[in-house]
Amino acid sequence: MVAGNWKMNKTPTEAKLFAGSIADTIPAELLSRVDVVVCPSTSCIGSVTEVLYGTDISVGGQNIFYEDSGAYTGETSGEMIKDLGADYTIVGHSERRKLFGETDEVVNKKLHYALRKDLRPILCIGETLEEREECETNIVLERQLKGALEGISTEQLRKIVIAYEPVWAIGTGVVAAPEQANEAMAFVRHLIETLYGKNLAVDCRILYGGSIKPDNFDDLVSLENIDGGLVGGASLDEGFIELVRIAGRHA
Ligand code: PGA
Repeated sequence: MVAGNWKMNKTPTEAKLFAGSIADTIPAELLSRVDVVVCPSTSCIGSVTEVLYGTDISVGGQNIFYEDSGAYTGETSGEMIKDLGADYTIVGHSERRKLFGETDEVVNKKLHYALRKDLRPILCIGETLEEREECETNIVLERQLKGALEGISTEQLRKIVIAYEPVWAIGTGVVAAPEQANEAMAFVRHLIETLYGKNLAVDCRILYGGSIKPDNFDDLVSLENIDGGLVGGASLDEGFIELVRIAGRHA
């Protein structure tokens, strides 16, 4: 899977044009082997789903609130983005955790809510540089994963995509070394095995995220524990199509 997180970039007009060009360029055969998801800003979801209608490219939100409606000024519900045609939503991105105070408890509520709305969550977890330097990576991953998955059943886990995104690699140009990423992701898979059993640990889709570029993606996606990428900066231009091609070589 290659998922693009456009963050707060592109107007609805720009997003529609770009999504259309992706759809025109990626061959259908490639889309049959690689799951491609684009996550535009909430304001662009409607225009992007419209232009991607009938293609095999899915659309996701970057964030949702965990109620359908009500007095939650500035928020958007999962029901609303579902109505706009989204099939996925990112949950617990580190920018949401850091800038908007999202706790593991809130992430857990959003995860349950997304699943109730039949949205496939892309659950983000990852340690900060300080935590890595203190050798706390596994402790943080375990806390975030167990916190997020509290009360999630085996059936529900099948719908969740996990993204390991070391915070120090996001938007910094400093990509994790393939062995570093592979090791952390092996630990995440091991946690899934202890919580849900071996079969699910093998089947569970785990993406890497953080400064992915066409020139470093091949080394990452060829590793055993890495099933694809969640891409920020490099998903905003034609480089994204190259990333899908690279994933296709390993699919
Ligand atoms: P980046 O962002 O690829 O720009 O580092 C990744 C992400 O935040 O999901």
